Amino acid sequence: MSAFKGDCGEEPILAHQPCEISLDNKILQMCRQWLKSTKTPAGLYGDNSICSMDVRSEGRYYGKNELRTMDERYWDKAGEDYDGEIFSVLEQDRNEVVCSYIRRLGSGELTAGDFGCGVGKFLPVLAENFGRVLAVDLSSELLAQARENCKGLDNITYARKDLSSDGVKLETVDFALSVNVAIMMPRKIRVGIINTIARHLRKSGHLLMVVPSLESALFADWRLLDWNINSGMGYDRAVAASLAEVEASGQASIRHGAVEIDGVPTKHYLKEELEAFFADGPLDVVSIEKVEYSWKTEFESPPKWMKGPYPWDWAVLLKPAASRFESVKIKV
Ligand SMILES: C[S@@+](CC[C@H](N)C(=O)[O-])C[C@H]1O[C@@H](n2cnc3c(N)ncnc32)[C@H](O)[C@@H]1O
Repeated sequence: MSAFKGDCGEEPILAHQPCEISLDNKILQMCRQWLKSTKTPAGLYGDNSICSMDVRSEGRYYGKNELRTMDERYWDKAGEDYDGEIFSVLEQDRNEVVCSYIRRLGSGELTAGDFGCGVGKFLPVLAENFGRVLAVDLSSELLAQARENCKGLDNITYARKDLSSDGVKLETVDFALSVNVAIMMPRKIRVGIINTIARHLRKSGHLLMVVPSLESALFADWRLLDWNINSGMGYDRAVAASLAEVEASGQASIRHGAVEIDGVPTKHYLKEELEAFFADGPLDVVSIEKVEYSWKTEFESPPKWMKGPYPWDWAVLLKPAASRFESVKIKV
């Protein structure tokens, strides 16, 4: 699991319990239903104003405030309650997989980049292990918080850039970190971000990407089913309960890795998909391993017997592919 925090309290039985819906939200939901049922080419934005469909990518709804995850405003808003909204890989990584890579690959002579740094959770450990650190993010609000959080650290420079656009110019780095950034559903945004990072990696460098695991999301669904059965629920009811949430969110696109987290369709990756995705591109996969989290990141009060395997993200270590690094981009 990852990227965003679920915010509904969980009793074990049924699916992730739906949150209480306020009257305002009910009215908004009715408006949305109506807009959908009349096939009106429009939707509702975060401020509840009506927007036309052509300004909303692929006609999808993007998250609780209907801002799109590729918009700066979406991430600026997440900054209002970052710890409440955004899952912290740094704090939840049971085996310190990410920090171990940073320590192993770090050196005072080298430069690191945190691409999509958010409020800078990983910046102190990067600053400690590398000579210089470049902190890049789309959101000026999150960058301002990162600066504030790291104000004693003088080897960090900050840059506001949209990594998904062509022509971004930054200094090159020896080690690039990108934690839960390439998670938007539109492929061209994700590929744009990865291509930009690849262009800013030195030939001897490494990119460590952390991305949500689709296997883990499906495994957590099975865990819930199993939990319900263990709690005395009949199999049919347990299946219906676990499917209810998926059906309520209209998640037909799970086959493309779209899993809703806190109402936001978020790209999840299969291990084999990651291997195939990077084959023939500018970067070679060195290793793919799990970043494991506790079951508390999925369920509010998991029972004591619920132990490993734990939910996880994928940590993908990549290095420039010597023969094709400079000439090849991943196709959008
Ligand atoms: C889920 S947060 C993760 C933040 C951080 N890596 C962490 O682990 O706390 C995703 C981050 O990616 C940034 N982001 C999203 N799209 C981006 C883009 N096109 N260019 C640069 N940063 C982007 C967001 O502003 C946000 O800070």
